[in-house]
Amino acid sequence: MLKTGLFEAVQPHLPNSYKQMSDEELIERIRERKRQLGKDLFIPGHHYQKDDVIQFADETGDSLQLAQVSANNQQSSFIVFCGVHFMAETADILTNANQSVILPDLRAGCSMADMADKQQTERAWSHLTDLFGESIIPLTYVNSSADIKAFVGRHGGATVTSSNAKKMLEWAFSQKKRILFLPDQHLGRNTAYDLGIPLDEMVVWNPIKEVIEESEDLSKVKMILWKGHCSVHENFRMDHVNQLREKDPERKILVHPECSWEVTQAADLAGSTRFIIEQVEKAPAGTKWSIGTEMNLVKRLEKTFPEQSITSLNPEMCPCLTMNRIDLPHFSWALDEVFAGRLTNQIKVDEKIALDARRAIERMLHI
Ligand code: 13P
Ligand code: SF4
Repeated sequence: MLKTGLFEAVQPHLPNSYKQMSDEELIERIRERKRQLGKDLFIPGHHYQKDDVIQFADETGDSLQLAQVSANNQQSSFIVFCGVHFMAETADILTNANQSVILPDLRAGCSMADMADKQQTERAWSHLTDLFGESIIPLTYVNSSADIKAFVGRHGGATVTSSNAKKMLEWAFSQKKRILFLPDQHLGRNTAYDLGIPLDEMVVWNPIKEVIEESEDLSKVKMILWKGHCSVHENFRMDHVNQLREKDPERKILVHPECSWEVTQAADLAGSTRFIIEQVEKAPAGTKWSIGTEMNLVKRLEKTFPEQSITSLNPEMCPCLTMNRIDLPHFSWALDEVFAGRLTNQIKVDEKIALDARRAIERMLHI
């Protein structure tokens, strides 16, 4: 069992037999295990998962939806999570003690979540409360470790997702004058700007140098943005936007708010993975899109809506390598382990950490 707080994942060696099986054999094997485990097994799948994995998901969704379906699931003993580590942790925090959450490959982490650890956050809080006193409330994007969620829960704050960030910031500003927003500076900046907060009332906290970067007048600061980002969404740049606007001005640009402020401002629309899917779903045939988010989702949209023209904002495409760690061999192996009664790759958040983290998540789910 992998106990977190500390995410020290060591993925067990995948038996060679799984690597040697054809996709057809693996698919057949997974189908059979799903049938055998029945209601005892629940498979949530994030929109960024590969097609050959997501076809087995009992529920698909963005981070908020997956947190909600995990919280609502009372009957399945085994939750085999097709997504990344922080999502599996959230599922473990929200489910009962007799339910086990399994991540098919422990290397399925999130580079952004790794950009804030507990020690850095404690030190930042100490510096920032010296500077700003009691005027700060912490918010963390769900793309963060259980430790960070617990820190936020202990200090009266909440989690946010890309689909409720605006609402959560409004709530936080009703509590305190300033927000410390972890770990994605872009989601924090994009959302605050949307709420009318000018850029000169936002500063960036650099957790490596332990300083606020480029600040002129600290008294007017409302948003303190943790210097973290998504290594997939940083690959959508202004040169892509400019080239596209010149070449094909009719094409609509639709991006995830983990993209930079410049790209998000230049886009026609920005929102969570669910928002992105909904925009395409409701658009008429012939609509042209250029989408700034993870490759598996863009390709799926392309396939599902052939009557629209869908391309990636970055022609070189941007896969999330950690999401892609969940593949048919690992998934099939994880189900076989469950079937054999072994809780291999279980994600278990330490009780004390889970208690504080749950407070932060539940505040979000209630708002
Ligand atoms: P969503 O909550 O929009 O699904 O985003 C999760 C994520 O990791 C995006 O990179
Ligand atoms: Fe993390 Fe970015 Fe992958 Fe989302 S796309 S899971 S934020 S690395």
